[in-house]
Amino acid sequence: MLSVIILAAGKGTRMKSEKPKVLFEAAGKPMIDYTIELSKSLNPDKIVVVTGNMAETVQEHLRDYSIDFALQKQQRGTADAVMAAQDFIDDNGKVLILCGDMPLIKEETIKGFIESVTEKIAFISVKMKQPKGYGRVVRASDNKVLKIVEEKDANEYEKRINEVNTGVYLCDGEELKKRLALIDNNNAQNEFYLTDIVRDGAEAYLTEDEDEFMGVNDRIQLCTASKILYKNRAEKYMLNGVSILDPNSCYIDDGVLIGRDTVIYPNVFLENNTKIDRNVVIRSGCRLNKAVVEENVEIKDNTLIEDSFIGSGSSVGPMAHLRPGSYLEKDNKVGNFVELKKAKMGEGSKASHLTYLGDAEIGKNVNIGCGTITCNYDGYNKYKTIIDDNVFIGSDTQLVAPVKIGKNVLVAAGSTITKDIEDNGLAISRTPQNNVANKGKEIMDKNKAKKESKK
Ligand code: UD1
Ligand code: CA
Repeated sequence: MLSVIILAAGKGTRMKSEKPKVLFEAAGKPMIDYTIELSKSLNPDKIVVVTGNMAETVQEHLRDYSIDFALQKQQRGTADAVMAAQDFIDDNGKVLILCGDMPLIKEETIKGFIESVTEKIAFISVKMKQPKGYGRVVRASDNKVLKIVEEKDANEYEKRINEVNTGVYLCDGEELKKRLALIDNNNAQNEFYLTDIVRDGAEAYLTEDEDEFMGVNDRIQLCTASKILYKNRAEKYMLNGVSILDPNSCYIDDGVLIGRDTVIYPNVFLENNTKIDRNVVIRSGCRLNKAVVEENVEIKDNTLIEDSFIGSGSSVGPMAHLRPGSYLEKDNKVGNFVELKKAKMGEGSKASHLTYLGDAEIGKNVNIGCGTITCNYDGYNKYKTIIDDNVFIGSDTQLVAPVKIGKNVLVAAGSTITKDIEDNGLAISRTPQNNVANKGKEIMDKNKAKKESKK
């Protein structure tokens, strides 16, 4: 019988925030979620999260996981937090204690720890180059663990110890309860320290990778943890056949899928279950949120794509914005300064420059000229623009919706289209051009003279 207790009631004072610390995102995911997912991977009999500070917010956040909650009314230290979960501790079971502020721990490490422990009380330790802030593991001359001393209680000698307590423990239920009952708060912080459970003998399981056990207490540590997570994730994709130019500036959310031979340039954000097929190029500065991108697509620099579909062979950007509900069927081109919203483009259609297409349904092989605007909004309601196959929309056209344009239509540049157009038609709406000889220069000269007379 294994129970996992996750400590998440602390004030998180050092974050200086209105938000609970464990809900801060590390590499695109709230820290507590990493701990819950790690716990789930161990298939325990129960998972209990100890909440306290902003308990409701934390519990609400975790509502979809089937886990239990304990409430620590006052944050009087880590031992007190475990006490708050006492009812969930089975005398004959094992208890794994984790903290909600350690997003980097790996499943293999915890599994190795659980398998190897022989004593009733055990914890993971690691040697840190900069142990500052962590509890130090004090050992006797025979190497047995004597105690863990917190930074604030440590003397000069103890501060020089670089083996630290990671805050991960595995205990026999009954023994844990017995030792918890003996803990007092005679220390620098007047807190009940969980670390004091090791005083009557404990096994320290020394691990190798100090990054894994980084605890996040402030925003600098949050940033460090995020960078490591992002980098680890990027490297996993690289080993699976994705080229990433700079894993240090590649921000991929957990759960994003990327196909082989896709190339990702620096400063790219792939968020929210985005799916990218094989052989896609994503240039620098792009953010894709909930996007589906088929094979052989190029997304050029500084493009934002939200909740949209990009069919194979298409090219998008630079500096394009695909808002939710955009759908490019196949071999489309969406060029610079083009914004799409709930716009569908059929195979082979193009909007290459400076265009807004909102609430639009566009057929195959349509060319949308530079500066085209669908006027889809009357200040209160939205209307649809429908453009059938093989249409050519000349530059600087306004399509005042609702409006329907038939197949093979030619719309002359500079037109304001307010009426439907039949198949094969031409639509032109401009005032006839009037050329007046010499008039241009005459007006300019007059303007110039006016300016000079003012000097
Ligand atoms: C703790 C350990 C320290 C260890 C370090 C590893 C103690 C006394 N110290 O220090 O030895 O090196 O973790 O990162 O245990 N919490 C509660 N209720 C409380 C206080 C804390 O639930 O009353 C929770 C916090 O939300 C957090 C965890 O316990 O998730 C650890 O608390 P924190 O204040 O971050 O402890 P550290 O000072 O980091
Ligand atoms: Ca901590």
